[in-house]
Order: sequence, then structure tokens, then C-alpha cells
Amino acid sequence: MPSLAVIGTQWGDEGKGKIVDHYSSRARLVVRVQGGNNAGHTVLVGNRKLVLHLLPSGILHKGARCIIGNGVVIDPAVLLEEMANLDAAGDMVSPENLVISHAAHIIMPYHKAIDAAREAKRGKNAIGTTGRGIGPAYEDKVCRVGIRVADLVDGVLFKSKFEQVIKEKNDYLTKVLGAPPVDAKETIEKYSEYGEKIKPFVENISPLIQREMSRGANVLFEGAQGTMLDIDHGTYPFVTSSHPSIGGVCSGSGVPCGKIDHVLGICKAYTTRVGGGPFPTELKDDIGKKLRDAGAEYGATTGRPRRCGWLDAVVLRYSVMINGLTSLAITKLDVLTGINPLRICTGYHREGGGHFGEFDFRPEALEKVTPIYEELPGWNEDISKVREIAGLPDQARRYLRRIEEIADVPIAAVGVGPGREETVHVLDPFQPQEETPPAGRIWY
Ligand code: GDP
Ligand code: IMO
Ligand code: MG
Repeated sequence: MPSLAVIGTQWGDEGKGKIVDHYSSRARLVVRVQGGNNAGHTVLVGNRKLVLHLLPSGILHKGARCIIGNGVVIDPAVLLEEMANLDAAGDMVSPENLVISHAAHIIMPYHKAIDAAREAKRGKNAIGTTGRGIGPAYEDKVCRVGIRVADLVDGVLFKSKFEQVIKEKNDYLTKVLGAPPVDAKETIEKYSEYGEKIKPFVENISPLIQREMSRGANVLFEGAQGTMLDIDHGTYPFVTSSHPSIGGVCSGSGVPCGKIDHVLGICKAYTTRVGGGPFPTELKDDIGKKLRDAGAEYGATTGRPRRCGWLDAVVLRYSVMINGLTSLAITKLDVLTGINPLRICTGYHREGGGHFGEFDFRPEALEKVTPIYEELPGWNEDISKVREIAGLPDQARRYLRRIEEIADVPIAAVGVGPGREETVHVLDPFQPQEETPPAGRIWY
């Protein structure tokens, strides 16, 4: 049976949580591969809303074993709280259904303090980070001074590694950033406790995943953030510090590229972004406000209002190319109900002449572009009860067909509401290359 990677195609918050939860019912393993608790993945089951920051979005499925990969940076306090909340709700988290990579890095208090102090200093040039210490934790990983899960759970190693770095961190905080130092004694005590609690969950995950793969199990890889926030391929420097695109799946789990069979790109029917950085199709008018209100576009992690705009198909095509997407899930189509006409950006006009439909995502280049739009008719019908493509209004099918044409990737699923069951299934992303019966994809 195949493996499937789920990747955000925009600037995050595309609805990955809901989609991963759905397909987890068929997966033996669900592996979160990168990012940290900057992510907020929402799963809505009946009236119960779960926002997961570190636990994979398959955690509610009894048949799935969830894995936190080596590419993730873990704030142990946040992870333990998330686990405790699930336990309290009767969904016990145990080593039976959760494994934590021994090689994942730990977010320390000085990472959070550095993140906050640097952002305050940047003023109007702030990245708008989530303030969770993500960038500084990845910096230490790359600098080879990070503390890993394996260190944390071995009390002696943890103390020795911590003592090697704490003086330098506190000097940097106090002398360079003008921020208060971190209390070393208190940190050692707290983190030693976290280490004890996490210990039973820790394993070397790559052999575990590959063993299951060779037995024929379905494996789902869950990306966090989105391709445009990728440290290499996104709108640098307004990005996160990991690889939300496909490369992060392999490096964040220790699975070779050739063993990722299919890649499902999650794309909102419009575009949102939280924090700073370029966003060519942003709408600062009433339509932008309508999208924010109808789509409840407020950050699942920080509560910040998300910037909203038209669907940017230049970004989508770029994501198709970078990630080798084999199918798409278009989420939040219901939010477009009542907006007429609709627009899709298919290219950019460059200041001073010329246009490009290709990809130059340097912020300096994007500041000088005006989007080129195609207009499509909207619809007014409530689509939240629709479960088959044929039940969607003609205009909605036309909108989807146009996305499929521009992306040149088949649509596997369409979101018509936040609830677990509020999805139109079109084809199976675990088998997207199969000849699909024409009836499955009649858009018009
Ligand atoms: P993620 O970070 O990609 O998992 O996305 P978030 O959970 O941060 O944000 C997506 C939001 O949209 C959440 O509040 C979801 O409950 C909601 N959502 C997901 N799919 C749909 C959909 O098809 N329609 C509507 N109306 N809401 C959706
Ligand atoms: P999910 O997984 C949307 C954004 C932040 C900021 C930039 C850098 O829920 O899609 P960081 O704290 O990572 O250093 O912040 O990245 N960002 C996200 N935006 N969804 C996310 O995750 C995000 N994670 C980080 O707003 O602009
Ligand atoms: Mg989110």
C-alpha cells in the first residue's frame, strides 16, 4: 500500500489538519515531519474542536500510530499539555499511539526569549513570527549546539549540553538583545521532569517507518506551514525556518524520496497569510473582510487576523512544481459563496512593463507586481451539505475545473465546511494515477 505526503501549497493554514484527520482513518502511521508549535492544525469532530500544534492530526484514529519526526522542533511543555488535554477527554495518548523521534530538537526557554526580543527590535521589519522560538531552535540545530530528545531523556547528557550553551545564550540575551536572562537552575529542573515524562515515547523512527512500509502499510506524512513559508523556496526572509515543502518530508522522517508515492497539495479556494511579507493578491477591501469573516480567518496558534486575498494560481503552479503534487484538495470552497464575480490570479504584471507567470518570489520583486486576474461567475447556493461533485452549482464546478486546468493536477477532494464529513471526495489521493472513471470528475 502506498505512502502519501500532505503539503500546504500556500502560506499555511490551508486546512491540512482536517484533511490529514480524514485520510488517517486509512493509515497505519501518521508522521508529522517538520515545524513546531508555530503550527495550528484544526480538527473538528461534531462539536469538538481540536487545535493540534505538535501531535499529528491522526491522533484521534485508534488504528493509526502517530509519529513526531526528527524534523520537528518540540516545546516539551506544549507537547505534554496537548497530550494531557487528550487524556482528559478520554483519548489516551500512550506509546501505543505516539512515538517521538530521538533526533528531534528541543525548543528551550532561551529560544523563545531570543525570538521575542529580536522581533521587538525589528520594528516595522518584523517577520511576524509566532514567537514560539522556532527560528532560534532551528538555528541551534544547524549550528550543532541544539539539545535533542535523546539528550533530554538522558538526564546527565541534558545537563552537560545545557551547561555548555547557557552562558553564551544568556550573554546574547542580556548584552546584545537587552532582554532578561534565562534562569538556569529552574530550566534544568523543569526540563529534567519533561524528559522523564517523554522518555517512554522515544524511538529511532526511520527504521520503524520503513519496517511498516515494507509490510505494505499505508503511511501518511503531515507537513506543517506551507510551501511559500519554506526557508529555501518561500518568500525569504518572510518564511519559517524549516522545509514545509516535499524535501522536508524525507529529511524530517528519514525516508528516501523514492518511497513517497503520492503528494497531496492542500490549497484554500482563496489565499491567506499571517505575519509580514509580500502577498500580491491581498484584498484590503470589503471582499477581504468578507473572506476573513466567512472563513473565520484568525490564526489557530496566535489568534491574529489572517490577511486574505484571491486565489493566486502563480503560487499554486509553483507549489505543483516544487512538490511534484499528484493531487489537490481544495478547501473552504463554501467561504466563496455569495461573492460574485470571483477572481483567480494567473500571472503578474511587472512594474515598468512585461509580465510573468513564472516564479520570482523575492520580496523586492513581488513588491513591484500587479496581479493579472481571470474573472469567473460566483454562486449563492449553500454548498455545505453537498457531498458529490454533481451536487455543486455549475459556477462552483467551473471554478474548480479552472483550478485543475491551471495547476494541471487532479482534484482529489473539495472542502465545503470545517466539519470532518463536510468534504466532497472526487478521487483517491492514495491512488491518483489510476484511470478515474469519467463520472468521478465531471466538472461541467
Ligand atoms: P492548517 O494549519 O492547514 O491545518 O489549517 P488551520 O486549522 O490553521 O486553518 C484552517 C481553518 O479552516 C480551520 O479553522 C478549519 O476548521 C477550517 N476549515 C478547514 N477546511 C474547511 C472548509 O472546507 N470549509 C470551511 N468553512 N472551513 C474549513
Ligand atoms: P500551519 O501549520 C500560517 C508564519 C508566521 C510568520 C512566519 C515565521 O498552521 O499552517 P515562525 O514562528 O515560524 O518563525 O514564523 O511563518 N507561520 C505560519 N503561518 N500557518 C502556520 O502553520 C505558520 N507557522 C508559521 O506567521 O509569518
Ligand atoms: Mg494552521
